[in-house]
Amino acid sequence: MCGIFGVIGSREVSPLIIDGLRKLEYRGYDSAGLATIQKSNNKKFGELFTRKSKGKLINLSNLIKEKPIQGHLGIGHTRWATHGKPNEKNAHPHVDFTGQIAVVQNGIIENYRDLSKSLQPKGITLISETDTEVVPHLIGLEIENFLDKGHSDNGQILLSAVQKVLSLLEGTYSLAVIWSKAPDALVVARRQAPLVIGFGEGEFFCASDTPALVGFTRTFLPLKDHEVALLTPLGIELYDASGTRQHRAPSLLKGTELFADKRNFRHFMLKEIYEQPETAQLWIDRYLPSDSSSVNSFISPITKSTIDKIEQIQILACGTSRHAAMVGAYLLEQFAGVPTNVHFASEFRYSPPPVSPNTLTIGVSQSGETADTLAAIRMEKDRRDSINDPNFSFHQLGITNRLDSSLAREIDNVIDIGSGIEIGVAATKTFLGQMLSFYGLTLLFASHKQKRSTQEILNLSNDLRLIPKQLLDLIKKHDEFSKEIAHMFVDTKDVIFLGRGINYPIALEGALKLKEISYIHAQGYPAGELKHGPIALLDQNVPVLSIAVPGLVYEKVLSNSQEAKARDARLIGVAPSGPESEMFDHLFAIPQVSEWVSPLLTVVPLQLFSYHIAAHKGFDVDQPRNLAKIVTVE
Ligand code: AGP
Repeated sequence: MCGIFGVIGSREVSPLIIDGLRKLEYRGYDSAGLATIQKSNNKKFGELFTRKSKGKLINLSNLIKEKPIQGHLGIGHTRWATHGKPNEKNAHPHVDFTGQIAVVQNGIIENYRDLSKSLQPKGITLISETDTEVVPHLIGLEIENFLDKGHSDNGQILLSAVQKVLSLLEGTYSLAVIWSKAPDALVVARRQAPLVIGFGEGEFFCASDTPALVGFTRTFLPLKDHEVALLTPLGIELYDASGTRQHRAPSLLKGTELFADKRNFRHFMLKEIYEQPETAQLWIDRYLPSDSSSVNSFISPITKSTIDKIEQIQILACGTSRHAAMVGAYLLEQFAGVPTNVHFASEFRYSPPPVSPNTLTIGVSQSGETADTLAAIRMEKDRRDSINDPNFSFHQLGITNRLDSSLAREIDNVIDIGSGIEIGVAATKTFLGQMLSFYGLTLLFASHKQKRSTQEILNLSNDLRLIPKQLLDLIKKHDEFSKEIAHMFVDTKDVIFLGRGINYPIALEGALKLKEISYIHAQGYPAGELKHGPIALLDQNVPVLSIAVPGLVYEKVLSNSQEAKARDARLIGVAPSGPESEMFDHLFAIPQVSEWVSPLLTVVPLQLFSYHIAAHKGFDVDQPRNLAKIVTVE
């Protein structure tokens, strides 16, 4: 949540910061701001300038065109409001009582109320409703202390003041700080919210995420938790929480070059839906090559000896990632025979089940930065480490799209879903990539644990290899069809999504997509539950979308759909075309495939359906209201 971008160097930084923030806007887009320091003639000091605006970054960009600000040092922020409404007053950067220090922050300062009370006796009152504003004031007070003691290197004073203040802060955050009396210093810090430093030519950057560095530099250094860094035009100084100087080699950016290229698509989301056949093909080439006759060809990051030990699996995830995990849990239990539970990461943190022996914990997060998921994984690690029994060891696996994320750094074994960067806030191709990873794990567990015959495993592998081509055909067909029928649903207020078995999570995902981007209320249910309550909602104004795939529960879903039709609901089907599908008022026809692989296909019409309704309504599909691509707050 919230994007930070800062620059120190020899160029005018305002346009660079706007450019950097543009690539971070997916993190939050309810307001934006920037601050620069313009050096005075003697170059020793400078003057602080700020510009802020409500709404998307374009408003800030226009404001800066009207009222430019200069300087070779600056910090910017794009906000997703946590404390205080999204307005100009609450937008970052926040400035201290002297008007000389500016701070941008991502995360939450949990003890800000106590800290703000401590400022009152000093005559400092807060202007904004944010948790952030206490930080510049506290830094301002610390700087006064250092100046009183006769310190003279202002860059070092700023660094020391920030270090002192960090020890007062509770919560998770990353931040960047500038001071007009230190025009050659940018101080950054991180505690459980991402921040990277970019190494340019004669200039340095800080950013919440690596894609923001594309076009500026490929060399970057992720800050570790509790680290603080001083950036100057000449280099960086990095310190750990105890103030000990750290030395680490930077890394090189990989694979983010395609960032922000919408090609000819109207929205990133549509482009990303269209990229799914490629996502699937890349995954198959990488993990399930067709020249391999071996059923063990899924390349796993976990060793055979670990797999042998594992008796059960628990999966921690949020939102769409949790839906992918639910498809995974179905496969792992029903195909591979491994008992598997999926938890809302946000709930697991506060009500974990009793610790079970020989358990694999899987964290699923496309961004690898979701605060709830990371915290749940850390908590699980801590409680297992505290039990001195090898049977209760922490066996861990991460599934993510971002190998440079906190999740990938903190977890030893990671499956890279390799979907390529996803910009649309509504996840599509990364959902497919996550599901594919679970198919791989299922093949792996099923073969190692000998729960399925060689033929059954080969059948599943072969069915997976057909998916890219089937996706391609499906997207072409249903893009047009969804567009044609979208106008019939623009005034709809509620939609019920039904699925069963392996397609129940797809019903949840379809409902989530519709809610997220078209703001239509939608609920996913296991089809058999309809009669236990939700059926009371049905009439001609509440359409029902049923996912009916031939297999274990086909007839059951069809019967549940009939029950809805009998209550006048308009029926939309995601099913193979045939006599049974005639009951549907609108049919998203899918190919006849094995039920096992069907979620990889049934989700596509639902993505397109939501997309076209939202696009038809003229909504901002890629940046829906109130949402952000990365949720780094609890
Ligand atoms: C997906 O469309 C959503 N934007 C959201 O539910 C998302 O899946 C969730 O916040 C988890 O994100 P993660 O995969 O990055 O952890």
